[in-house]
Amino acid sequence: MNKKTIRDIDPKGKRVFVRVDFNVPLRGGEISDDTRIRASLPTLQDLLDRGGALIVASHLGRPDGKRVPEMSLAPVAKRLSELLGRPVRMMDDCVGPEVKAAVAAMKPGDVAMLENLRFHPDEEAGDEGFAKQLAGLADIYVNDAFGTAHRAHASTAVMAKFLPAVAGLLVEKEAEMLSRVLESPERPLVAILGGLKPKIGVITNLMKRVDTLLIGGGMAYTFLKAQGKEIGKSVLDEKSLDLAKQILAQSAKSGPPVVLPMDVLITTDLKEGAPTKVVSVDEIPADWMGADIGPETRQRFAQAIKSAKMVVWNGPMGVFEIAAFAEGTRAIAQAVADSAAMSIVGGGDSAAAIEQMGFGEKVTHVCTGGGASLEFLEGKELPGIAALQDR
Ligand code: 3PG
Ligand code: MG
Repeated sequence: MNKKTIRDIDPKGKRVFVRVDFNVPLRGGEISDDTRIRASLPTLQDLLDRGGALIVASHLGRPDGKRVPEMSLAPVAKRLSELLGRPVRMMDDCVGPEVKAAVAAMKPGDVAMLENLRFHPDEEAGDEGFAKQLAGLADIYVNDAFGTAHRAHASTAVMAKFLPAVAGLLVEKEAEMLSRVLESPERPLVAILGGLKPKIGVITNLMKRVDTLLIGGGMAYTFLKAQGKEIGKSVLDEKSLDLAKQILAQSAKSGPPVVLPMDVLITTDLKEGAPTKVVSVDEIPADWMGADIGPETRQRFAQAIKSAKMVVWNGPMGVFEIAAFAEGTRAIAQAVADSAAMSIVGGGDSAAAIEQMGFGEKVTHVCTGGGASLEFLEGKELPGIAALQDR
């Protein structure tokens, strides 16, 4: 990454504004997965060790510019305090005279957590005045919010205009991992894509780089339809149909191979206990729908993964939230975990799946950003990274 990082600054005696992505899942006020908080600890700890005072800021959920008490970052501040082993002072807002006064009194080693940035509509609007107010709290700006780096919001991108602006260690690590896939992969490089809709931009960009592309999950049915197959009531993305045809034609002409499911697990209803059967992709009845890849496909995909030196995986193979339709995703998670290849798992559902299935430790890198890692793999410049100072 050609951007400055926290290694290029001296935080001693400074107030450092650290934008993190602590948009964690909350159930009944309890954090059900604190991966994203843990992922930014190296950055926060390093800045504290070197004498900085930290103003930690994040969004949580999508409160749409209003104060929504259930989306307060207070439970996150509590967890952060436990993980850092020092007090974290929770603020009542992210701007305003009280916040300003409180941060002005901060000493080296102090940590304050601002309230949800998205309680203000100016955050998502990328408002300059709001960004300036946030910048006015600190001496240095650090972006460690990889999961939100694809958003050009006040705190993720605009603020960087007003302060020395550098990347945190998480943003650096994520960008380096994903850049390796795009720029200097080990070969063979195998990509596995799943999830609901075809990620055409990602597929197009990866087609230029991978040795094999495996497509499963909901998006596979649009490709099967593009081949002229009956897909019954399976999910179809009409808008992507023509592009899917083009991608298959390109693959047939000049490669790389795009491998679609050969068999699928179908059902009449995406519910636990609904009838299921495994059929060839040429035999999907008109009133059934695909819910997962079948056993032959699991084996074919696992084989491809086994032969890879580098694997990148984004998106589940089926409706894995329902146990009856989770086998495909489990098999891929297992294959990725078993392989000796360098493995990078995109954020969002596939990251949740790999953690939930207990394989998180066995992959090289699990991204903390879903949308952000997809846009990165699409070859797009992420505004949150672009805004930082060049090295
Ligand atoms: C996420 O979890 O996707 C990030 O925190 C960004 O949130 P957003 O999709 O609501 O912008
Ligand atoms: Mg998102």
